[in-house]
Amino acid sequence: MYSLLTLLCAVGALAAELNTTTVYQFSSNDTWLENLAVRSNGIILTTEIGPPASLLAFDPREETPQKVVLHTFDSVLGLSGITEAAPDVFYITGANTTADNISDPPANATHVWRVDFTGNNENQPEISLIARPTAPTGFNGLAAFNESIILATATYQEAIFAVDTTTGETWEAITNDMMSSINGIKVRDGYVYWTAGADFCRAKLYPNVTAGAPQLIAQGIAFDDFALAPDGFGNTTDRMYAYLATAAENTVMQVSFDLDGGNNQSVVIAGNLDSIEIAEPTACAFGRGEGEFDHLYITTGGGSGVNVDVNGVDTAVGAQLLEITL
Ligand SMILES: *[C@@H]1O[C@H](CO)[C@@H](O)[C@H](O)[C@H]1NC(C)=O
Ligand SMILES: *[C@@H]1O[C@H](CO)[C@@H](O)[C@H](O)[C@H]1NC(C)=O
Ligand SMILES: *[C@@H]1O[C@H](CO)[C@@H](O)[C@H](O)[C@H]1NC(C)=O
Ligand SMILES: *[C@@H]1O[C@H](CO)[C@@H](O)[C@H](O)[C@H]1NC(C)=O
Ligand SMILES: *[C@@H]1O[C@H](CO)[C@@H](O)[C@H](O)[C@H]1NC(C)=O
Ligand SMILES: *[C@@H]1O[C@H](CO)[C@@H](O)[C@H](O)[C@H]1NC(C)=O
Ligand SMILES: *[C@@H]1O[C@H](CO)[C@@H](O)[C@H](O)[C@H]1NC(C)=O
Ligand SMILES: *[C@@H]1O[C@H](CO)[C@@H](O)[C@H](O)[C@H]1NC(C)=O
Ligand SMILES: *[C@@H]1O[C@H](CO)[C@@H](O)[C@H](O)[C@H]1NC(C)=O
Repeated sequence: MYSLLTLLCAVGALAAELNTTTVYQFSSNDTWLENLAVRSNGIILTTEIGPPASLLAFDPREETPQKVVLHTFDSVLGLSGITEAAPDVFYITGANTTADNISDPPANATHVWRVDFTGNNENQPEISLIARPTAPTGFNGLAAFNESIILATATYQEAIFAVDTTTGETWEAITNDMMSSINGIKVRDGYVYWTAGADFCRAKLYPNVTAGAPQLIAQGIAFDDFALAPDGFGNTTDRMYAYLATAAENTVMQVSFDLDGGNNQSVVIAGNLDSIEIAEPTACAFGRGEGEFDHLYITTGGGSGVNVDVNGVDTAVGAQLLEITL
């Protein structure tokens, strides 16, 4: 894991603008990567809002990483959240909607699939549809509550739903007044963390899949999805680090927060409002390959949702998979 030197370097670099490197970039500027998860073997899985609604894999250790299409889902127009619930067993979600009709589509637009890599063929996971709930209208982020229950943010219902992956049963599990435009979600150490509009929040999770009162951790302008640093990251044990995609702000924000409710700090660590370096970031995830524990991977929509103002010219670029070394 981390040497002390690595940790001190990471902390020393925090206030600086970190450079990004491109793992992969689409050629066409009407492409969109919505979310990502990293397998324990270091392979990065990303979801694409299409069509095509594809689940993609990238090996960041290759000299020139190639896009591997693991599967294209014909029954939806785009994929969004992805989470790992058991070792190498992932869940992904997508809906047969566009930005125009996601807020009020006909029933059954939302789909949830299991993507199981525990078989032998690396590039042919076993994929099965496990839920097709009538409501909500679409799921955004996903996080595992435990190996059998996943949590999903329902942006337009302003709630967190639960999906029992063994039965497909889906219900509204958690809602409070801090969930307007809820987007990203993660679960860690008995808390559920989420972004909702400009807010980054958390609440204590209970075993009955409900949660305690919401706590505001930090505020920005508009957050998409985010990553929580792995255990042991950072310089003290009572602080935790989160890396948030700021959507049309075109940056990654680091939030360091006090687990006991004290002082929290936010700083932009990479990107710039008027730059396509990180064009409309959608999500972040930590590397898991050897020597990659301090690498942060970022997906972007390439500025095709809200164009980037580059010297007065509205600009969109191909969707990006980027890397920052913290
Ligand atoms: C970022 O890249 C620029 C140009 O290559 C270089 O001058 C600068 O030192 C780099 N910054 C960091 C924090 O590595
Ligand atoms: C999406 O839903 C509409 C309305 O229910 C349906 O007509 C259409 O065939 C669906 N598209 C796909 C790709 O499933
Ligand atoms: C949403 O709109 C798109 C584009 O018009 C259409 O293809 C899709 O079927 C619609 N979805 C539903 C569920 O009606
Ligand atoms: C769609 O939703 C209805 C409930 O309105 C349910 O009875 C039906 O099984 C669902 N269809 C699919 C394909 O999941
Ligand atoms: C997940 O949590 C639910 C609710 O507490 C519980 O019923 C279920 O058995 C748990 N699943 C596993 C695999 O622990
Ligand atoms: C769920 O658990 C919490 C914490 O123990 C409790 O306060 C709450 O009443 C429970 N909710 C239900 C519906 O059982
Ligand atoms: C630990 O990190 C916090 C947050 O970035 C910073 O304010 C503090 O100075 C750091 N402490 C040390 C000893 O480096
Ligand atoms: C810092 O974040 C914690 C959550 O870890 C929250 O309880 C606390 O209120 C926040 N502090 C401030 C000053 O906002
Ligand atoms: C997207 O790419 C097309 C084709 O290269 C170009 O004509 C268009 O100006 C680009 N759009 C933006 C917003 O950059």
